[in-house]
Amino acid sequence: MSDKYTQFVSHGLGRDIAKRLGLPQPVVLRRHQPGRPLIDGPVLVQGSTRGADSLAAALLGWNLDVRRHAIPKEKLGAIILVLDELAHPADLEKPVLTAATSLRDLAPNARIITVSRTAASTPEPATAAARQGVDGLLRSLAKELRAGATGNGILLADGAGTTSPGTLGAMQFFLSGRSAFVDGQFLTVSSAAGRLPGDAGKPLAGKVAVVTGAARGIGAAIARTLYRDGATLILVDIPAAGDHLAEVANEVRGTALQLDISRDDAGQRIIEHALTRHGRLDIVIHNAGITRDKLLANMDAARWNAVITVNIAAQLRINEALLASEHLPDAPRIVSVASTSGIAGNRGQTNYAASKAGVIGMVRATAPLIGGRGGSINAVAPGFIETDMTARIPFATREVARRLNSLQQGGRPGDVAEAVAFLASDAAGGISGEVLRVCGQNLVGA
Ligand code: NAI
Repeated sequence: MSDKYTQFVSHGLGRDIAKRLGLPQPVVLRRHQPGRPLIDGPVLVQGSTRGADSLAAALLGWNLDVRRHAIPKEKLGAIILVLDELAHPADLEKPVLTAATSLRDLAPNARIITVSRTAASTPEPATAAARQGVDGLLRSLAKELRAGATGNGILLADGAGTTSPGTLGAMQFFLSGRSAFVDGQFLTVSSAAGRLPGDAGKPLAGKVAVVTGAARGIGAAIARTLYRDGATLILVDIPAAGDHLAEVANEVRGTALQLDISRDDAGQRIIEHALTRHGRLDIVIHNAGITRDKLLANMDAARWNAVITVNIAAQLRINEALLASEHLPDAPRIVSVASTSGIAGNRGQTNYAASKAGVIGMVRATAPLIGGRGGSINAVAPGFIETDMTARIPFATREVARRLNSLQQGGRPGDVAEAVAFLASDAAGGISGEVLRVCGQNLVGA
């Protein structure tokens, strides 16, 4: 599904017309392309703490053009604002207003990334106020940015530092084109677990991953992205989608498993297939999902139950089987696809939103359980994504829905897939129990 409006207003006459009429001016986003640099232009690391110094040194090691002070009028690819030693809200003024002087020098598709500490990890009210202040600051700034620029934050819990694997993994993801449609979001690094990100293109080499609902849409995009990143794939979908499933499986040189995930033995079937065909199972991506929309006043048990069964009950049962299995390797990774409907709610989707909010609750509660095996579990919550499903929405409703975010456009299945692939990688090992929204910073709802 193409967004012709964004193409039209990105250049020359179209851009002038949109500007004159005060219409939305989305730009074509910088997305990941193999061989392209992580970020175009210098990276300004602001902050005078030891954490800022060591982060700047780590980024130099990635061959980035790192600045510790702004050079007036120089176009910047990114500003990283390190705020890891805040003790009082008054401490925000100097670093924040210094960064503000560089905002007009941001290049198109630039990145702002804050690095600060979680408010929950301090008993001190003034410190908690300062740390929580970063949340409001970053989310507002992200709404002020234009030309495809995004703002996201990394939160350090006790036990994580500015150069922990998860911090550098999240930094690489947020700087890169892989996070093109992630805006106004925070990721918490809860431990120093995981592996430092490399610059190689195959972070999932040697891993065996299963993707449910992989015959089309977002699931097929996830399969392609994990394959690009080096994983060996098992693709699951219902028997009725068998032909499409086989096509995707051929494309990514994986194996197809025709299976309804709501079957009682789905977890065992997946484990058996993985062990017999590939000898191991490292990554599980719960993507399969359905909608049966109705206002609650018109809801029947069949619609309600179908959605709860496929979208959350099946994931719970499969996870139970995985966690009980003796065959899971060290550091298993699970990523579930939730939805912004499960966070903000959506008219006509009480069943769907209950199931997707359920996914978020499940992920948070499962994090300590899988953490005991050195693994992680996270959720990705897509907003408006250009798929066959959203293409069926009537034109006017669709136009409003796709423009109501800070980037003024819909995301692509590949944008969701990039977030999933990052969270499935060992570089995200210190990140668990998190929900990462891929929604361009929806302006309506939470
Ligand atoms: P889709 O309908 O195009 O694809 C879903 C796939 O899951 C289909 O191939 C289907 O056959 C499979 N599936 C359904 N029930 C199954 C079952 N019981 N067992 C095995 N496979 C089953 O959907 P889309 O748009 O690709 O969505 C993928 C995920 O992303 C879903 O969880 C959806 O809720 C979520 N999502 C999608 C958004 C969007 O804008 N498209 C927004 C937010 C979340």
